[in-house]
Parts: sequence; structure tokens; C-alpha cells
Amino acid sequence: MKNLIKVMLFSLLALCTIGLYGQQPAASYDIIPQPMKVQLKGGAPFELSATTVIAYPDGNELMRKNAEFLREYIQKSTGLKLGLTTNPTRMNCINLSLDFKLSTGKEGYLLVVDDRGVSLMAAEENGIFYGIQTIRKSLPILKEKVEQVALPAVQITDEPRFGYRGIHLDVARHFFDVDVVKQTIDMLVLHNQNTLHWHLTDDQGWRVEIKKYPELTRFGSIRQRTVIGHNTPIYDNTPTGGYYTQAEMREVIEYAKERYITVIPEIDMPGHMMAVLACFPELGCTGGPYHVAEEWGIADDILCAGNDKVYSFIEDVLSELVEIFPSKYIHIGGDEAPRVRWQNCPKCQARIQQLGLVKDDEHSAEDKLQSYFMARVEKFLNSKGRQIIGWDEILDGDPSPTATVMSWRGTAGGIKAAKTGRDVIMSPTTYAYLDYYQSERTNREPLAIGGFLPIEKVYQLDPMDQLSADEQKHIIGVQANLWTEYIPYQEQLQYMYMPRVAAICEVQWCKPAQGDFEAFKARLPKLVDVYKLMGWKYARHALPADYDHGSSASMW
Ligand code: ACM
Ligand code: ZN
Repeated sequence: MKNLIKVMLFSLLALCTIGLYGQQPAASYDIIPQPMKVQLKGGAPFELSATTVIAYPDGNELMRKNAEFLREYIQKSTGLKLGLTTNPTRMNCINLSLDFKLSTGKEGYLLVVDDRGVSLMAAEENGIFYGIQTIRKSLPILKEKVEQVALPAVQITDEPRFGYRGIHLDVARHFFDVDVVKQTIDMLVLHNQNTLHWHLTDDQGWRVEIKKYPELTRFGSIRQRTVIGHNTPIYDNTPTGGYYTQAEMREVIEYAKERYITVIPEIDMPGHMMAVLACFPELGCTGGPYHVAEEWGIADDILCAGNDKVYSFIEDVLSELVEIFPSKYIHIGGDEAPRVRWQNCPKCQARIQQLGLVKDDEHSAEDKLQSYFMARVEKFLNSKGRQIIGWDEILDGDPSPTATVMSWRGTAGGIKAAKTGRDVIMSPTTYAYLDYYQSERTNREPLAIGGFLPIEKVYQLDPMDQLSADEQKHIIGVQANLWTEYIPYQEQLQYMYMPRVAAICEVQWCKPAQGDFEAFKARLPKLVDVYKLMGWKYARHALPADYDHGSSASMW
């Protein structure tokens, strides 16, 4: 009798389970980045079907666009095609709504699912966008047609740790066209990132159309040949180039904006300027001749800081740039500018004299000349209503108190900057340089610059290390960088980014208490399912051995 009751109870339980979920596919909120607070409610799930509608507030274009994104994601993952409405109902509706009183911050959201419907609320439209990403990543990815997908009852409260969540893309060493840049933006979207740092110019190529100086793209965007491997004596003997027209850059910026992503352009100066010197040799200290660099590394030839024509040139370029890019910040580089030409240049030395720059225990007069250079450009950009970001070398000399510092030579520069009251973005080589190898078995990897940065290490970046609570306020964000000397193809670009961007996105989005690499790793396959759905290439090192990579062609 007891056994019979047991069997009956068990059957009842099983029936309930089948009734609720059955063989029916269900969503799971074990996603990346992990939301701040996920409270499963345990009640009946919401049954998402083709009869479900997505509601958005009438007259709000951004919210209509958000609703369209959600519809597209749901269809791509599940095949279910939902309708849109401006008349929300309590039943069978995903209601997207704004409530400025919500305490989840500028980019946060509140997602509530019960058996009757889904409510996604945020103070601002971008919060809704991130809530939509959460729904998207929670959904199962289905190959066969289904009638319904179960969304377990839940309340999710979420907001990011940092306001600046960046990914850097170098298009100077190898050029990537607008479609690739847009797909990179799509990758940022999936990882709740909000800033694309677009490294547009370097020794090996100038990629920005500047109407006043057509030479920059006519000649400066093309290098006649490219060295093979790590600066071997062999070259490919093939000219290569590429640049973006101003219309194309505007198209990228608009595409990013629709996805709540700001594009920050970088014009790297006074170093990394060989492509400019090749067009305008009079802007260098020696007068040239120069050519667009064909090897990798740091060039001794940089812009002459003693020549006023250089500042006029930079101002002309930046004047056109700020007309295209609406970003608060313009990145003006400042890294890897050797002093050797300035030391031997009469114009630079005269400028040092004229400014009364003298060496001290820590810095040379030429270091201070670079500070003067950067400050002069900063002042110009300030006059255009913009602020500057510079690599941490800008701290050498008499650094501007108002520049934002991007710490790349480890975190020391960022720590120093934060301690002296400057804003900081942490992107140290030690944790955030995605051009480094991700495995020690380098013979099985595509050629990379060197280094070793496995995903575990990326995950361990602590941007607040060694900082007091007050100093921590200056850490405005975190960024991962991808330099493309050794990355000529989009597939390789994706392989270097993913899934390490997933690790950096948890550093950027999640509170420190959430950081648990093993738990992250357990959530990774579900995110990689989305990579597969998008047709993106990814590295497999952190995935379980039995993960089904499907038909995705294996390159490495
Ligand atoms: C850098 O990696 N040279 C900023
Ligand atoms: Zn000079």
C-alpha cells in the first residue's frame, strides 16, 4: 500500500513536471554576464509561443527598436515569430516599459516572469536593451519547430559594475571592412559592452578619410608589402590597404548607437605616425624620406613637436573627426613615442628651450615635450567640447590632470593615475591583451604576437587592486584590446576575441563577489551556443571535451 502511494505520488509529480515543462524546451538564466540577482520563483513558467506579443510604449522609437531586436532574437533562437503591439496586456505579453523611478541605475533593468507574462522594466531604454540581451541569452536554441518555450518564473534585478565597458579593435595593422566592424559590434552587444575603441591609424596604415588631406588615404592607407611572421627577412611583396569613407564611419557609428554602443576613435600621436610622415615628410624631425611601415614594432620617426605645422595638421584632422564622431572622448594615443629624433632635432630642442622644459630625476625634457604636445591637443579638443583618453605613457612628464588614462603597461599606470585623481580605464597587457596566445601549445594556434593569456587569467583581472574606496571611484571601466599585426582574417579576429571577451565582460559587468571562474566556465557552453548560432569562430580551450561544435568548420 505504502509503495502504491509512493508510485502514485511519483506519477503525479512526474505528470506535473511534464505538464509544466514536459519535453518542452525551456529557458535558463545561467548566462554571461551573470545578472546581479536572479530569484527563481518556483511557480509555473511562462509559455512563450507565437501568440505572445511584445509590447512597447507608443511613440517611443527607441523602445520600438528594442521590441524589434527582441522579436528578431526570439525568432532566431526558437523559430517563434511574435507580434508587436503598443497595447500591453497582463496575459501572454512581454511588456517593455520605462519607469524612471526604478533604482537599477542608468543601464540596469528589472525582469519579472510569471505564468501570465513577462515584464521588463528599466529607467532608460538602454536598460531595456540589456534586459533583452538577458532574455535572448536565456532562450534555448532550437533546431526544430516548437509550439512553446517555457520561461521559468523569475525576478532578475541587474545593473553593471562599470559605466565604461570597452573592446578595442585595431584596423590599422590589418584593415577590416565595415561589415566586419558591424559584426564586432554585434559581439559587443552579446556581451553587454557599450564602447568600441576604434584604433584607426598607425605606422602601417591610415584608415580615415580626411577631406582636407586626401593624400592620407590615397597613399597613407597603403603599404607596399608586409613582413612575414615576427619581422623575418621575408616579405609578401603585395600592396595592401583600405580605409573608411566619412559616410562609412557615420554608418558604423549609427549602427553602434542603435545598439547603445559609443564608438571612440583613436588617432595615435605623436608616435605611430609613419603613414602620415610618408605623405607629409615635412611633419617629421628629419624630413624623411619615409614610407608606410612594412614591419611591426616601434618606429623612431614620430611627429616633430617643434613644428607648428604639425599642430595645424592635427587640428585639421581632429576638426573633421569630431564632426563624424559624437563621442565624449577622443583617444589621442600617446604610447611608444621614442625620444631619439626629438633629442637631435633643432626645432624640438628650440621648443624645449622656449617652453623652459628641464629634466628632473624622473623625466627628461623630451618627456615633458610630449606632455606639452598632448596638453596642446587636449586643449584643442576641449574647445570642441571633447575630452581625451591617452595610453598610460601620458603620465610620463607633466601629465594633464584632466586626461583619462588607459592603463596598458600593467595596472601600475592606472593605479598612479587614480591616486592622483585622474579617471582610468584598465586594459593591462597582463589580463586584457587578446592578441596574446590563449594556449601554451602555440604550435596548434594561429601565429600570435607572443605572451600567454588564457581565459582563466582574463577572468582574474581585479581593476580595483591596491586602491582605496575613494580612488576606486576613478576606475571608470575596463577594456580588452586586440592588436592585429598577426591577424589578417575575420575568423582569426573572432577566434582571438571569443570566448575571452566573455571573461572580460564579467569583470566589466558583475560585482566582484560574483567572480567564480568554475561557475563562469559552467555557463560558457550556453553562450557559445549563441556564437554558433551567429556563425562566429571561437576558441575551444575552456569548453568541455564533449561540447558539440556542430558543423562549424575547425580552423584551429
Ligand atoms: C599599446 O599597446 N601600445 C597601447
Ligand atoms: Zn622635431
